[in-house]
Amino acid sequence: MKQIPTSLLTLLAGIVITLISLWVSQNHHLLPVQASEQAPWVDDFFSVMVGIGTALFIVVQGTILYFLIRYRKRAGDETDGVSIEGNFALEVLWTAIPSVIVVGLGIYSVDVYEHMGGIASGSAMGHIHSTVAHANHDPMGSAIAAPMLADAAEVSTDPKTSIPTYGLTAQDGTELNVNVTAMQYAWLFDYPAQGILPGELHVPLGQKVILNMKAQDVIHSFWVPQFRIKQDVIPGENTELQFIATKLGEFPIVCTELCGAFHGGMRSNVVVHTPEDFQKWVEETKVAQATEVQHRVAVRPESLSDTEFLAPYANDLGISPDTLTQLHP
Ligand code: CUA
Repeated sequence: MKQIPTSLLTLLAGIVITLISLWVSQNHHLLPVQASEQAPWVDDFFSVMVGIGTALFIVVQGTILYFLIRYRKRAGDETDGVSIEGNFALEVLWTAIPSVIVVGLGIYSVDVYEHMGGIASGSAMGHIHSTVAHANHDPMGSAIAAPMLADAAEVSTDPKTSIPTYGLTAQDGTELNVNVTAMQYAWLFDYPAQGILPGELHVPLGQKVILNMKAQDVIHSFWVPQFRIKQDVIPGENTELQFIATKLGEFPIVCTELCGAFHGGMRSNVVVHTPEDFQKWVEETKVAQATEVQHRVAVRPESLSDTEFLAPYANDLGISPDTLTQLHP
């Protein structure tokens, strides 16, 4: 039997591995439903990485298996193995290939991040005060020229100050601004323009939503897996997140930064409505909160025990009041 040339075998293996990797990258079904405009960007990137990972896995594991079998110790063979000390060409090759892959993925990821509006994150928008929010509706305002480093606190207290924006956070007055405050262990939402403080995040379908986020105590991280967006929420530093929801329904908001004993329970929901239903929800929430407001009591969280502090959230967190009373300080 005539020997098949190695180069031909290598080429064949390359083609087969490429086909398998391409198939796996398109059929891994590892990600949840896509519910935002950014989701396909992230998923395409993820699929490319899964494809590359699959190819590397097959090549590395395949080589190990092949060598295990092909060069195993045969019966009666008592000789030493061949002494091989390095192979310059091979070392250059296996350094160069991963370098090219990693640099390529790095550039690709920055591109995806930019498309998602991520480059605008960390702008000094800060929490928008209710009285300032209306300045937002002037698209030609001096906002665009305002310095990026304007103090966020100043922005939210001085009604004369325009809201500084830059980069991809183009303010055309149609986006929905929501102030998000993270604290151990809850998400608080404040709609400055609508004047409501709902327990969950509600957004209209197909409209740009900008979350202006701050943390009250420690670092938290705001994550909506179905939207493929995630951003750290940091004490003393406002961060920003933007998205356009493309699917009606309810999706989980998950804190994905270990922030204390009840980090695992720091969850909420984002509810996506049709624009009409969203307006209806805003009106209903306004009415509900007008009657509820006299029952609100301002408390300083520092002066409460863990049990007292968490009691109002027990229901949201899915833990029973009995569990709370067993807490140790
Ligand atoms: Cu907040 Cu984990």
